[in-house]
Amino acid sequence: MEVKITEKIRYIGVDDNDIDLFENQYRVPDGMSYNSYVILDEKTAVLDTVDKRAMGEWEEKLLRTLNGRKVDYLVIHHLEPDHAGSIARLVELFPDVVLVGNAKTFQMFPQFFDIDVTGRTLTVKEGDCLSLGEHELHFMLAPMVHWPEVMLSYESTEKVLFTADAFGKFGALAKTENDDWACEARRYYFNIVGKYGALVQGVLKKVSTLEVACICPLHGPVLREDLGYYIGLYQTWSGYQPENRGVLIAVATIHGNTMAAAEKLAELLRAKGEETVVVSDLARADRAEVIEDAFRYDRIVLAASSYDGGVFPCMRDFLYQLQSKAYQNRRAALIENGSWGPTAGKTMRAILETMKNVEILEPTLTIRSTLKEADLPVLESIADALIAAAER
Ligand code: FEO
Repeated sequence: MEVKITEKIRYIGVDDNDIDLFENQYRVPDGMSYNSYVILDEKTAVLDTVDKRAMGEWEEKLLRTLNGRKVDYLVIHHLEPDHAGSIARLVELFPDVVLVGNAKTFQMFPQFFDIDVTGRTLTVKEGDCLSLGEHELHFMLAPMVHWPEVMLSYESTEKVLFTADAFGKFGALAKTENDDWACEARRYYFNIVGKYGALVQGVLKKVSTLEVACICPLHGPVLREDLGYYIGLYQTWSGYQPENRGVLIAVATIHGNTMAAAEKLAELLRAKGEETVVVSDLARADRAEVIEDAFRYDRIVLAASSYDGGVFPCMRDFLYQLQSKAYQNRRAALIENGSWGPTAGKTMRAILETMKNVEILEPTLTIRSTLKEADLPVLESIADALIAAAER
């Protein structure tokens, strides 16, 4: 897809419409974009390459954009293979190219490449500037957003910020150009960068001192207008604050009886005026989407069957993932099911208690195989506690 940035700053990224699982784990029904950029000035610079899956198309775009010129610099904002996958080809095409990275980049570089780049590297550190002529790239280190070697750069003449994975999203550009940005950007953020909120906040602080006209991430659309909207969402997400009022009911059900209890709770919540209640079957739903919803909303209900003296595995896995992503600052309620020795509630509670500022609301409902009339008052109390928790 053709993307116009400015006369001298060009997009040479590629849509990958064939990939099914990004990073071999995230479903991407609308594909993925690998963004790459060229700055044409007295010196030319390529800003990141693309996954080798997309190398052929990228090379064509690169050569067409260069129109006979050579590449002077390759800026490596991020060494992960979805961006670095075509570096070897670039070096082959332009043997004199100078690779620009930070100390960590070049420490990790030989782990991925058997290329001798002696004498062809430029190591930059925080605040360093690379002049290309009229354009100047100012470097900001952004460790763990999303790998330790990640850096951002700010082109001060045209006020363009190159943000690596930050502000990226799932989806090929041509397939998603009319979509709501936040939906797939949120799923991308929490699943890929979510663990490192404090470091993202540090980067946002640096960015807040800059006048930015345009954000160029390594995935998803170039962002030009209303940049405060995107930066504001990143502030909320990286601060682990809920974005919307709502209740996620995450369900691990074996025969459907735990799901029936969850659906009944959803019905009660809606009847009591709760507008956003999302019920997700952890065995079937896109797990990354459920993780996204857990972070999006302010309250969560975990409803699970007992299993092997613990909790049904899809709930255990989900909680492990939430724990890994530093889930925090939320209110939670529990429903457990156990036909003989209920253990799900205790297991889920113990995991929640390891998380920062996750308040477990009372009561917990224990159902024995199926939801009974006699269980309804407890379910009512859970619904009331959830609503009261949002209004505190
Ligand atoms: Fe898009 Fe962390 O690579």
